[in-house]
Amino acid sequence: MDEIKKAIQLLKEHDVVALPTETVYGLAAAIDSEVALKKIFAIKERPFFDPLIVHVSGQDEAKKLTTSWNKTCDALTQEFWPGPLTIVLKRNDKIKDVITAGLDSVGLRCPDHPATLQIIKELGVPVAAPSANKFKRTSPTKKEHVQREFEDQVFVVEGGESRVGIESTVAGVFDTHVDIYRPGMITAQDIKAALNNAGINIPVNIVPSPVAPGQLKHHYMPKIPIILSWDQLNPDLSTLSVPTDNLAVWNISSNPAETARNLYSFFRDAEDKNHTAILITLDSNFKSMHEWHGILNRLDKAKSFEISR
Ligand code: TXA
Ligand code: MG
Repeated sequence: MDEIKKAIQLLKEHDVVALPTETVYGLAAAIDSEVALKKIFAIKERPFFDPLIVHVSGQDEAKKLTTSWNKTCDALTQEFWPGPLTIVLKRNDKIKDVITAGLDSVGLRCPDHPATLQIIKELGVPVAAPSANKFKRTSPTKKEHVQREFEDQVFVVEGGESRVGIESTVAGVFDTHVDIYRPGMITAQDIKAALNNAGINIPVNIVPSPVAPGQLKHHYMPKIPIILSWDQLNPDLSTLSVPTDNLAVWNISSNPAETARNLYSFFRDAEDKNHTAILITLDSNFKSMHEWHGILNRLDKAKSFEISR
């Protein structure tokens, strides 16, 4: 049986399956299976207060899950779906409490990956899927990452290396404004431009996540410490309480798309090669460039130490 058929069968049997997406791999369950949804939390060791994103095959399926679809949603999904944008809307009764952690809203996204889109379409039911990693850890961007994370406990559909590399932009969409809760490779500027093109002039704000785990100081962390160094290629590390004899070093110079794509693989490779710590150097001018916003957000949450000039 091919992998797609097997994934559909497992989802129908109330099991979970790891699926590739263009951002990171997800651990999926059909949204009508309470049993499988609960399994996601158990396998990930994730607290129930962290809501899941629901993955749909397109606009039509998304509209069936919400009571607050508006013309802003039309404009954003026409521009960015399938792709790395999650929109948060008022949920309806097709969305179970376990998915949203009891919130009255739900995150919806149409992933840009042919295998996963085919699975959602043929299953005929959307799938809820968080990133396929243990809670607070680095998201997987390759099949092997998921297999190692869960020691072969879950079936993983092969989908190659994730093209985007960091998780989707998460944005609350209201009639009067858009609130970005989690930055990603689709930036606030990209969203504003898409709305302007559609003749919609409402503010796009960057706000703290309304969800508790989104505000966690630490997230996306590898098992070895990350040291961030701003504007210094060879910072003085002697005062840090880290073994720095076997560092994995990455001088990030340019190209945010490539940096995002390689970020989590770099963390995982450094762990696997028994480095003692990761040193990442970067230019503080990136802080004012919107295309770096998502990457800097992940680095800020994944780091253990930070050195500035
Ligand atoms: O790119 C992605 O979004 C990946 C792939 C697999 O699609 N998924 C992902 O899921 O990153 P996860 O569970 O690791 O992160 C989802 C985050 C939640 O932690 C929360 O911050 C936000 O999305 N979220 C989900 N539902 C929400 C809601 N109703 N209101 C606000 N934030 C929500
Ligand atoms: Mg995650």
